[in-house]
Amino acid sequence: IPVDPFDFIIFGGTGDLSERKLIPALYYRQRDHQFSEPTRIIGTSRSKLSDDEFRTFARQAVSDHVKASDVDQKELDTFLARLSYVSTDATTGAGFDDLAKAIGESHCIRAFYLAVSPTLFGDISDQLNKHKLVSPNSRIVVEKPIGRDLDSAHELNDLIGSNFDESQIFRIDHYLGKETVQNLMALRFANALYEPLWNSANIDHVQITVAETVGLEDRFTYYDRAGALRDMVQNHMLQLLCLVAMEAPSSMEADAVRDEKLKVLKALTRINGNEAPKHTVRGQYRAGASAGGPVKGYIEELGKDSDTETFVAIKAEIANWRWAGVPFYLRTGKRLAARVSEIVIEFKPIPHSIFGEGAGPIFANQLVIRLQPNEGVKQYIMIKDPGPGGMRLKQIPLDMSFAQSFQGRAPDAYERLIMDVVRGNQTLFMRRDEVEAAWAWIDPIQHAWESARQEAQGYTSGTWGPSASIALIERDGRTWHESN
Ligand code: BG6
Repeated sequence: IPVDPFDFIIFGGTGDLSERKLIPALYYRQRDHQFSEPTRIIGTSRSKLSDDEFRTFARQAVSDHVKASDVDQKELDTFLARLSYVSTDATTGAGFDDLAKAIGESHCIRAFYLAVSPTLFGDISDQLNKHKLVSPNSRIVVEKPIGRDLDSAHELNDLIGSNFDESQIFRIDHYLGKETVQNLMALRFANALYEPLWNSANIDHVQITVAETVGLEDRFTYYDRAGALRDMVQNHMLQLLCLVAMEAPSSMEADAVRDEKLKVLKALTRINGNEAPKHTVRGQYRAGASAGGPVKGYIEELGKDSDTETFVAIKAEIANWRWAGVPFYLRTGKRLAARVSEIVIEFKPIPHSIFGEGAGPIFANQLVIRLQPNEGVKQYIMIKDPGPGGMRLKQIPLDMSFAQSFQGRAPDAYERLIMDVVRGNQTLFMRRDEVEAAWAWIDPIQHAWESARQEAQGYTSGTWGPSASIALIERDGRTWHESN
């Protein structure tokens, strides 16, 4: 269904995010006939570009980042005709009059997408306000990182909040836009099967893995200052944990969902200085082989010495009735053995076996939710190994691969999220208090690492991280699910 016409203004219009994600996502929404007239897309950044030069940039972005068979020339031309460009400098205010002129008297929904460094969030939102571009129909979209700790997140939220109401602020965590992540909510709350078992009486532990094979990817300055804890755990990993652990919201309404996520974040047990070495692992990749070839170590890639972590494993605990005593093991890292994101729910073992030893081991049931790639859900169960030879037991997966069940392309997270901004639906966006509660849990870990000088342990690229990560879970008599 097409949405009402809107103006979409991209700050950082010629940058990396715009090229790789936003322009391709907007093109797909055009191709799928979601725009109505007169929807306009205005790119802006400091570079001086003509409208045509911006269209050439966008055409290239589509050609580089959209599958060739998905490019429809007629739709692409209609899409490019929506584009225009204005040069602005938020630090001086230059060009904002031109931007105001370009937007004109339009009463459409107006979305300002800040695909720029957070250091510019305050200046941009001030300039928008000064130039009377903030109307009740305006929305502002900000990308992570929202701060690097609780204090700076506070400050950033204050800056944006001084010009926009919370209902107009869309803080993106692109993991929430992934189909499979939304499917987590469907799995939990559209089935009667799991919810009665979804608690400490029946679940032994939960594992959340977000493993990547890529390394630094030209993001040296940002990444070396951030590290994996801030880059992945504070946002994506904690959002996944929230969706697994939250109580059923009363509806899909934005605040109903976000209230429940917030309660989880607040119930996370703080990991302080004494516990950090036992509950957390920091790692940094060394040279090795990954993604089919030899790769350099982090320090060689960076070109200078650094103790920034590219891997984190954490044993997290949630202090509430539902989850007390159920560890949530989290791990994420770059240059690991495979690109895989998945959530494993391991149920408790059966209380008593009626089968003799000859039947073989009885494994605990596992529910494996594969977020990417090879999206799907597998429920591991025990069955009788068919055939003669008596009662021998075997573990098999009840396998629901999305690729087999659904034809067609799964839209990228940004496609969904951009249209949610236009529709004004904040369910899949982080509220201010959520972001801050996440930092409030992350900060003590970061401080503990800094004050105890807990060094990042080296791991060979192409492996599953430092051996301490394996020890973290095996110490508790458990093992990481073998992801492949
Ligand atoms: C980003 C991080 O938010 O997510 C990157 O900054 C990371 O470091 C990326 O590579 C992973 O996203 P995806 O969608 O490829 O899993």
